Amino acid sequence: MDKRVAIVTGASRGIGRGIAKRLAKDGRHVVAVARNAEQLQSLEAEIIAAGGSCEHRTCDIADGLAVQRMVEEVSEKHGRLDILVNNAGITKDGLLMRMSDADFDEVINVNLRSVFIACRAASRPMLRGKFGRVVNIGSVSGVEGNKGQANYASAKAGVIGLTKSMAKELGAKGITANVVAPGFVETDMTAFLGPDDKKKVAEHITVGRLGIPEDIAAAVAYLTADDAGYITGQVLVVDGGLPM
Ligand code: NAI
Repeated sequence: MDKRVAIVTGASRGIGRGIAKRLAKDGRHVVAVARNAEQLQSLEAEIIAAGGSCEHRTCDIADGLAVQRMVEEVSEKHGRLDILVNNAGITKDGLLMRMSDADFDEVINVNLRSVFIACRAASRPMLRGKFGRVVNIGSVSGVEGNKGQANYASAKAGVIGLTKSMAKELGAKGITANVVAPGFVETDMTAFLGPDDKKKVAEHITVGRLGIPEDIAAAVAYLTADDAGYITGQVLVVDGGLPM
């Protein structure tokens, strides 16, 4: 494989799908990962029809061993791993005083522990290749905290600590690690907002609209570029100017 190989988790829909399409357009070989094979197949077909390079893999990122294997198998198959975008994530919102242990643990497992495992597994092939670009998708909730999101905000804040630590450990080896922290983006995750809610939210956003997956994909493309090697350990907030 002479193209740079990029794993994108949660690529079946929403922000991850946008990131996968953008990285493929930029000449990367994209390994699109999620649970839903059908949606991944349609993404792969879309990318290939547009002249890009893509393969897909189903993996439940709630299963740490499966995440570890997935990263190892991709690196072994291609003899390299250049880019890792940990994007898959879930919410299980509820007020702190009513939040169950199970809802806290599940969100930490999917949104933070899986990111740790993928980063650890990616370190080895990236060190071998003397090159790596890691982007972990955080959230403004992880920077500011948010009502009803004690679990999610904790996980996303944890992703920032993990990413900054990785950046410090591997920076001298040609590997960068950064967080992209989106605000409100129109995906299934924010589908609970009706048209009126969206209008109200948009009124508070400086640029006057909710984000779209392409807005986040542009930031990921920037941070994973070959010439982005001097940007590491950063949290790039992409929220259209959203006061929390
Ligand atoms: P989405 O719900 O549309 O897509 C989530 C993706 O993650 C899907 O591809 C889904 O299959 C995958 N996924 C979830 N659990 C998985 C598991 N156990 N195994 C494998 N794949 C799994 O969500 P969206 O909005 O595209 O979110 C993507 C990322 O952006 C998440 O990390 C989310 O926390 C973050 N984010 C989203 C915001 C928004 O407003 N939509 C705001 C801030 C952050």
